[in-house]
Amino acid sequence: MKVSLVGLGKVGSAVAHAIVLKGLADELVLVSRRTEIAKSEADDLNHAAGLEEHSVDVRAGGDLDTADSDVILYCDASPAKSIDVDRYSAARDNLQRLHERIPTFAAGSPQAICVMVTNPVDVMTWFALQMSGFPQERVFGVGTLLDTARLRRLLSEKLSVHASDVRAYVIGEHGEDQVASFSTASLGGESMKPSEDLALLARQAAESAGKIYRTRGFTNYGIAGATMMILESIRNNRRRTAPVSMRINDYYGVKDVCLSLPAVIGRRGIERVLRPELNEAEQAAFHRGASRIREAIEVLTP
Ligand code: LAC
Repeated sequence: MKVSLVGLGKVGSAVAHAIVLKGLADELVLVSRRTEIAKSEADDLNHAAGLEEHSVDVRAGGDLDTADSDVILYCDASPAKSIDVDRYSAARDNLQRLHERIPTFAAGSPQAICVMVTNPVDVMTWFALQMSGFPQERVFGVGTLLDTARLRRLLSEKLSVHASDVRAYVIGEHGEDQVASFSTASLGGESMKPSEDLALLARQAAESAGKIYRTRGFTNYGIAGATMMILESIRNNRRRTAPVSMRINDYYGVKDVCLSLPAVIGRRGIERVLRPELNEAEQAAFHRGASRIREAIEVLTP
């Protein structure tokens, strides 16, 4: 499987390293404007690949070298403009970069699955869908999968259980109005009744990125791990269920915007969308996220 990784910042480099360690590509093309950096990063990664059982062949290239990709992981982002996690601060610059590049990617890899990582991921996913002309099952964003992982970890610590057994999803906006849907959460078949304790954990999960940004200035390992779960499910047709940012056709009255809902991810991209039943407070938060993203799309639409 050929994977093209666009953007070699802190997130892109963490994604590239994870792909090599997990052997999630046969060919990995690193696409960066900084060609010399990309070449040396490819050399370094090939040294790591040589130590792995499944050796990924890594090379650097330009936009045209993404041709015939099976998966395009889009991580290209301009430097963050604030020390806090303002995922919308670089939206205009990031969208301009996407506008310049995605026509080449789409023309060269008409059957590719495009996974958006760059923030604001819901907005970027919307424009990638519009600009690529790809069907909506093949253009989606990492969305609230990372938020879900953060919440499950907090719940696993509080409940002293393994995080992978916690059936709780964060959906909606990958941002302040993300929705921890406790009304559908369960552990071992026992439902988790919404409570102040759980609401506090949801707030902590939503604030995780800001806490890290204020110290490190960025996050990269968590988002790389979330991207790996999606790539592994595509490569091995695992059909994992993950909340990803996608075009919402009609969910509690929300449509024509990109937000996260749980979806089954396989070799063809989104294979099925799941529509959890939300309580009124969760519906309101989902709508708030949709309004924020729709407003950003309107402001950014040329
Ligand atoms: C975060 C970034 C990826 O939540 O938005 O860490």
